[in-house]
Amino acid sequence: MLIVANWKAYVDSAEKAKKLFATAKRLATYPDIDIVLAPSAPYLGLLAPGNRSKVGIAAQDLSTVSGGAATGEITSSMLRSLGVTHVILGHSERRALGETDAIVSEKVRQAFSNKIIPILCVGERERDADGKYLTFLRTQLHAIFSILSAKEKFQIIVAYEPIWAIGKTAEEAITPNDLTEMMLYIRKVIGAYIPGTGSSKVSVIYGGSVEPSNVKALTEETGIDGFLAGHASVDSDIFTGLVKAVR
Ligand code: PGA
Repeated sequence: MLIVANWKAYVDSAEKAKKLFATAKRLATYPDIDIVLAPSAPYLGLLAPGNRSKVGIAAQDLSTVSGGAATGEITSSMLRSLGVTHVILGHSERRALGETDAIVSEKVRQAFSNKIIPILCVGERERDADGKYLTFLRTQLHAIFSILSAKEKFQIIVAYEPIWAIGKTAEEAITPNDLTEMMLYIRKVIGAYIPGTGSSKVSVIYGGSVEPSNVKALTEETGIDGFLAGHASVDSDIFTGLVKAVR
């Protein structure tokens, strides 16, 4: 089970970042639990260099450019040189600032060019009775899966994050039944790009108000490979409760 902790901009001191890292290292000793922490950029240099633990370190974004005259940009080679292993791409909070599928696919290319695993966020803003949200999701997945090499299709991690469920409470998150349906749908869409039954081997995780109280039910019978937790990942006790609930 993969747990990605998206700290967003919640963690704003080196002390807090180090404390959460220590907690994650303890939790990562449980068998079958893989943890990836996604701190804000200033803390990547604090956590990633020399990290020999089982905890992966993710950037929350990266640049479409590979270097040069690009003030303020953080490139995949800079991240790679620090020891960053993953990157969250296409998060809805970045898409809300104008990031298109074309930009996300550029960033996916940049990530793979430096052996950084992309955690690709997809998800609809709202649900409608006509199923337009399914077409929306298919378009987001197509934009990326259509540019991946055969090998990359099995390395990328897909995070299904319906926007309507982000930043709420466990009660307002997706239900296990709906998540099961969405997992089947996502694997079916991905299946168009992967021969045979290979799409079952692609890691698909869920994000959107995952908390200690709903995470167990969401793991059962949904076929989910893990979770991307936001607000529940930035308090040591709550994050510990979340990981313990699924181990
Ligand atoms: P949340 O955030 O757990 O606070 O809903 C998840 C996310 O946006 O990645």
